[in-house]
Formats: sequence, structure tokens, C-alpha cells
Amino acid sequence: MIKVLFVCLGNICRSPMAEAVFRHEVEKAGLTEQIEADSAGTGDYHIGKPPHHGTQQKLTEVGIPYKGLLARQVTIQDFDEFDYVIGMDNSNIRNLRQLVGSDHPKLMRFVDLLADSSYQEVPDPYFTGDFEETYQLVKEGCENLLLLIQKDRLLS
Ligand code: 4NP
Repeated sequence: MIKVLFVCLGNICRSPMAEAVFRHEVEKAGLTEQIEADSAGTGDYHIGKPPHHGTQQKLTEVGIPYKGLLARQVTIQDFDEFDYVIGMDNSNIRNLRQLVGSDHPKLMRFVDLLADSSYQEVPDPYFTGDFEETYQLVKEGCENLLLLIQKDRLLS
């Protein structure tokens, strides 16, 4: 099993959106037996809460399920359990580096999955209010991540 963890600050806006979108892509590709997704936050403010209503609204609009997603905080053990740990913005990456060290091989930036390199971070809709912009980036990144994993791991 290949395991992917998306990490943002609160685990209520961006990373649960990425978890739901990526899982949906994995299902469409018929790879649910091979690839699993989860998400977590670096902060502890929203532990146990469902996704933000803006994330829920966007996922509902595009027909992607998110039932059962509840916020949790990332732990150092996640780096044993997961194969890819993907931070949504630079402060997430900084916090994750503080947890495991600066050059951890499993750690990557979500924006490195995007073709448009003008984005240095995935904008946080908790502050921007723009869930559509974030969704478009999340969708592209998740599609590219699946292609990358398929290529890396020779999955088809
Ligand atoms: P997220 O957005 O990191 O994408 O889940 C945020 C959610 C909550 C807060 C900040 C960002 N907060 O400060 O409570």
C-alpha cells in the first residue's frame, strides 16, 4: 500500500480538500487497493472537527464525497506510516521540518505538483475566502500526484 498524507495548518480547509479530491482520483483510476490518502494539520485548533463549510460546499458542488473526515494533528509517527507527506504552504513545510529534520525524503511541497510555478503556496481559503481558486490548484496537483506515483511505483 502506498500512503499519502496532506498537511495544512488547521486540517479543515486545504488538506481535507486534497485528501477527498486525491481519493476520488485514485478511485477513478481503480487503484484503491494500492493507494491510500489521509490529511492532518500542524495546529491543534480544530481537532475532531469536520471540514470547513466552504470546503464542504465546494466538494458537494463537484460531487466528491468527504463524509467522515475529521481534523487531527500531524505526529512524528506519520513519517513512519506514510510514503509521501505533502505540505500545502511554506509555514506547514517549516513546521514539518522542525518535527523531522530539514531534508526528510518523504516531505514535499504541494506547489511542486503544479505546472504554474507562480504559486509558491496553496492559498489558504480560511483567509482568502476563495475556495474555488484553492480547489482548482488542489485538483491539478492531485491529478499530477497520481501520475507521479503511477510512474514512480510502476502502477497502472
Ligand atoms: P487550513 O486553513 O490550514 O487550510 O485548514 C485554516 C483553518 C483554520 C485556521 C487557519 C487556517 N485557524 O487559524 O483557525
